[in-house]
Amino acid sequence: MFDNPLTDKAYQVGSKTFDELLAVESVEVSYGPIRALYGISLTVGSGETIALIGPNGAGKTSLLNAVIGMRRPSQGRVRWKGRDITGLPPQQRIRLGMALVPEHRRILGTLTVEENLLVGAITLPRRLRQTRADELMERFDILGRKRSQRAGLLSGGEAQQLAIARALMASPDLLLMDEPTLGLAPLVAAQVFELIDELRRSGMTLIVVEQNARRALESADSACILRTGQIVEQGPAQQIAARDDIFGSFLGDTPVDGDAGSPDGRRQTGQAPTKSGHD
Ligand SMILES: Nc1ncnc2c1ncn2[C@@H]1O[C@H](COP(=O)(O)OP(=O)(O)OP(=O)(O)O)[C@@H](O)[C@H]1O
Ligand SMILES: [Mg+2]
Repeated sequence: MFDNPLTDKAYQVGSKTFDELLAVESVEVSYGPIRALYGISLTVGSGETIALIGPNGAGKTSLLNAVIGMRRPSQGRVRWKGRDITGLPPQQRIRLGMALVPEHRRILGTLTVEENLLVGAITLPRRLRQTRADELMERFDILGRKRSQRAGLLSGGEAQQLAIARALMASPDLLLMDEPTLGLAPLVAAQVFELIDELRRSGMTLIVVEQNARRALESADSACILRTGQIVEQGPAQQIAARDDIFGSFLGDTPVDGDAGSPDGRRQTGQAPTKSGHD
């Protein structure tokens, strides 16, 4: 993410070297008169995990939406494997190898677990959908056991597994995760982080938006801290984790041991939560 990232194709983060996969260049996003992102530039390397953290309203979701194509930037460009994809709609980006686990999961509660996987993979050739869904229901065995159950009956942790499995249907190169542990009990949140670690070990590239900043940094190569639509800090995750000033000031502090924050799993950013996150 560093060392003149927009011109070097390979760059160092700590002891690791990454090849550029995605580049966000001077991206601005607005909602009518409200500016959500001011000139964001960020490079993501193949196999890199970036923790994207920051207080409520910082623009984290807006940035993920600009990457996946759900929000067209008013300025700036997005490049994928060297190609300008700024004008491409989400479905084409998904075909190119991106996937999003959206904020609040957005699973379809009236459909079964299996149907959620199948309809979530519209970019996959029809003949491959069932095979891939079967593979994922084997890998996430709770989803296999509940394949015929309505997804609306799943627990929060199970629903999050379904949201992640659905995003994995098309075997993405880059997985964007928007607050995957929000609203989950600490033990369940810890399992989600274990899954993130597993995906990371498998070589997948990840951008993880997390309110549990300390735990997210443990599972990341680099960190990017957003505040009021701007990147205020970025660096190797270990270096950012050692910066007490960052945690003391605006991120709030959370215990390290896989704990999702307060007992009910709500965010602890030092600000009033804007949403409950409960399922
Ligand atoms: N659909 C929308 N219409 C108008 N304003 C929006 C919309 N979505 C986001 N915003 C505004 O854009 C800014 C950034 O919001 P965004 O959701 O990207 O932040 P965030 O960091 O994901 O916050 P949170 O931690 O609460 O999820 C905020 O000021 C927000 O109010
Ligand atoms: Mg958000």
